[in-house]
Amino acid sequence: MIRQRVLGRTGLRVSELGFGAWGIGKLGWGVDGDDRRSLSALKRALELGVDFFDTAYAYGNGHSENLIAFASQGARKRASVATKIPPRQWPCRRVCDAFAPGWIVQCTERSLKNLGVETIDLQQFHQWDDRWLAQPAWDKTWTAIERLKRDGKIRFWGASIASFRPESALELAGSGLADAIQVIFNLFEQAPADALLPLCQSRGVGVIARSPLDEGGLTGRLSGDTRFDEADFRRSYFGGSLLEETVRRSKRLEDLLVPSHAASLAQAALRFCLSFPAVSTVIPGMRRPEHVEANVRAAASGPLPKDVLDALRPYAWTPRKES
Ligand SMILES: NC(=O)c1ccc[n+]([C@@H]2O[C@H](COP(=O)([O-])OP(=O)(O)OC[C@H]3O[C@@H](n4cnc5c(N)ncnc54)[C@H](OP(=O)(O)O)[C@@H]3O)[C@@H](O)[C@H]2O)c1
Repeated sequence: MIRQRVLGRTGLRVSELGFGAWGIGKLGWGVDGDDRRSLSALKRALELGVDFFDTAYAYGNGHSENLIAFASQGARKRASVATKIPPRQWPCRRVCDAFAPGWIVQCTERSLKNLGVETIDLQQFHQWDDRWLAQPAWDKTWTAIERLKRDGKIRFWGASIASFRPESALELAGSGLADAIQVIFNLFEQAPADALLPLCQSRGVGVIARSPLDEGGLTGRLSGDTRFDEADFRRSYFGGSLLEETVRRSKRLEDLLVPSHAASLAQAALRFCLSFPAVSTVIPGMRRPEHVEANVRAAASGPLPKDVLDALRPYAWTPRKES
């Protein structure tokens, strides 16, 4: 039976294993997407009790949202869906250029249509910069978010931190404005545990742990010979010496954790994220039903023991801090 956690002060109960839906969008992440297989993965997830789906308009210009809507038709239980508004320009220094009120409303209406729902459970900004909170235009942006809530178009609002800088959302976490924050958190990128996670927990902000498998780097499936298509973002993500270094470091983690703490490195990586009570849900990218099943099993195994968590600290590695 899949366990649930509460998404911060929202009170929304969500499965601690959520569904990351970037890959199924077939744009930017992988070039071997297969809608039939993706729909099987989504349906298997719903059958097994996964009831939190993280998507974005940018994941295939609505394709990922459409697949979730299609798979959810006739589901026994209504799942919660989080989507994202892309900034009008990426990256963006001024909130008025990224998330002007008209843009927020327009993108929300578009996602409502794609998802086939009247209310989006969690609407997120697909990029965040704490400096926006002090800009004069922020008031208008916030008023638009409040109006969307009042009109019933969105239930909750939050932001996804696009970079490897969890400290770039500390102001937001402490502001009382966000219902949830999405952050890169995994065996390599452990920095959120220092300040962001405790702050979110104390302020009742839900935490969505994303990229828990380091885009495949923590699955044990990459090798020095792995090649990515030009259209696949992982070509630059694992560019230069990063692929070989990732393979080397993930092998060391595998030797430490498998089989004593999990059947696979991917399963250990998910247990790691769920070992932190501040985390409301972990959202691995799942394009195959067999991955859904394995990841549900991993979540069911519960947190890693404290001594193992302590032993894992020196394995933290963040080579993309400035990106
Ligand atoms: N800026 C943002 O807001 C942002 C950015 C990135 C991600 N996200 C969210 O976070 C989610 C997760 O991140 P992600 O999808 O980029 O990467 P990820 O979850 O770190 O890694 C996905 C990779 O793990 C593999 N995988 C999944 N379960 C596995 C298992 N049990 N055994 C072996 N391999 C397994 C997948 O295999 P296959 O290749 O075979 O499918 C895929 O290669 C996204 O889908 C999205 O919802 C948000």
